[in-house]
Amino acid sequence: LKQRPTILVFDSGFGGLSVLKEVVRVRPDADYVYVADNAAFPYGNLSEPQLVSRVIELFERLIAEYLPDLAVIACNTASTVVLPHLRGNFSLPFVGTVPAIKPAASQSKSRVISVLGTPGTVTREYTHDLIAQFAEGCDVTLIGARQLASIAEAKLRGEQVSEQDILVEIKPAFVEKDGKRTDQIVLACTHYPLLLDELHKLSPWPVNFVDPAPAIARRVVALIGPKENDEEGGKIAVFTGQTPQGLTERKMLEQFGLSQFFSMNKPLAGATSLAM
Ligand code: DGL
Repeated sequence: LKQRPTILVFDSGFGGLSVLKEVVRVRPDADYVYVADNAAFPYGNLSEPQLVSRVIELFERLIAEYLPDLAVIACNTASTVVLPHLRGNFSLPFVGTVPAIKPAASQSKSRVISVLGTPGTVTREYTHDLIAQFAEGCDVTLIGARQLASIAEAKLRGEQVSEQDILVEIKPAFVEKDGKRTDQIVLACTHYPLLLDELHKLSPWPVNFVDPAPAIARRVVALIGPKENDEEGGKIAVFTGQTPQGLTERKMLEQFGLSQFFSMNKPLAGATSLAM
């Protein structure tokens, strides 16, 4: 009897939910373990060595505990630096999330595009390499948003978020140059698609926000195959910090099929050094 595959979806917080949703759409029959390293949120502020050691250590435990068949690193900030280390250390397939610069450049008419990510992601060599490789002839503006991931977390917890605060973060991504305007903005952080309504509403002019989640879902299918039956798999959510407490937060997670929460109770060795 072939067991259904277990897919682990990993992020620093709730951002990976924007990816989970698309993966579940194509493989509703798989079992899911959603992991939020919320004890270390936001990843955007961590140094590369801190991120690498933390994520590797965490995956040692997660793989031993949940035996996933595939893991999706639903976080640009981690993927752009940790993926080679994960692939070198563990034998299961990893699907990463990297800034969708290639589709943005190929869809752009004005040839003026922006990449909106965490301060970590926009400074990565990986991101700069993608631009050099795929955005030739485009004017690319990189914006490292300091608060946007936290604003998305607050929204999902049911807190009131300030439109003014969002606008401050996204405005520099709207560029006007020689009569041409930005027409594509790469959402290079998985938290941002969770703010899509606000992003559209607050845009100074209409743009296409490029969300990598559907492409990630296609990659998962390419690696483990399409849906095999009409059964619905089980889903659990694991938190390195506190599990969701508020009612709104729990209701929101239920909309993603998550109603069983677990806490990784043993502190990670790196945890204290992350207190900043
Ligand atoms: N959701 C993550 C990303 O895609 C990171 C947000 C954060 O922890 O700073 O980049």
